[in-house]
Amino acid sequence: MHDRQGFTCGIASLDTYLKQRASQHQRDGIATTHVLADEDAPTRILGYVTLAAAQVELDALQPADRKRLPHYPVPAVRMGRLAVATSEHGQGYGQWLLGHAVNVSLRLRQQLGVRVLLVDALDAKVAKFYRAFGFRPTATQALTLYLPIGSHRNEK
Ligand SMILES: CC(C)(COP(=O)(O)OP(=O)(O)OC[C@H]1O[C@@H](n2cnc3c(N)ncnc32)[C@H](O)[C@@H]1OP(=O)(O)O)[C@@H](O)C(=O)NCCC(=O)NCCS
Repeated sequence: MHDRQGFTCGIASLDTYLKQRASQHQRDGIATTHVLADEDAPTRILGYVTLAAAQVELDALQPADRKRLPHYPVPAVRMGRLAVATSEHGQGYGQWLLGHAVNVSLRLRQQLGVRVLLVDALDAKVAKFYRAFGFRPTATQALTLYLPIGSHRNEK
């Protein structure tokens, strides 16, 4: 069993989510929580990411990413929350969790359409963190970013 009560990442709402809402959301099909645990102390949570099905308006994508797409909302996976324990910041766990979200999205793509991984950044500083990994701002919301999944443009 993971120690959810002991988790703290510096943003109270993200700590509270893990303690009070994550299990319920998982049960109700609202979002799944993926936890990264400490190998040496498996109950200790190093970080977590939540994922849910989502969609984004075609016009929100940058023009180059809209090419050849049908005029429907674009199927997506939303990374609702991403958090790493304060004591562990800067060690690559955030990057690992992002990579995990990309891998899950790629696997899902074999079962249902997923074109982009979406994220709502808390502020401009966190948006910079995502941009460093290739996320692009949507045309409609500067703090909502997307990463094309498995497309050629993404592989350059
Ligand atoms: C944002 C967060 C998830 C990053 O996790 P982390 O494990 O510290 O990040 P990593 O060690 O994997 O860092 C990867 C890279 O991003 C950079 N980075 C980390 N946090 C950053 C931030 N807040 N802003 C800008 N860049 C950041 C790192 O410098 C690193 O770059 P480098 O490899 O060139 O040095 C973590 O700081 C956190 O949980 N913060 C509080 C909660 C939060 O803000 N969550 C985001 C919700 S949208």
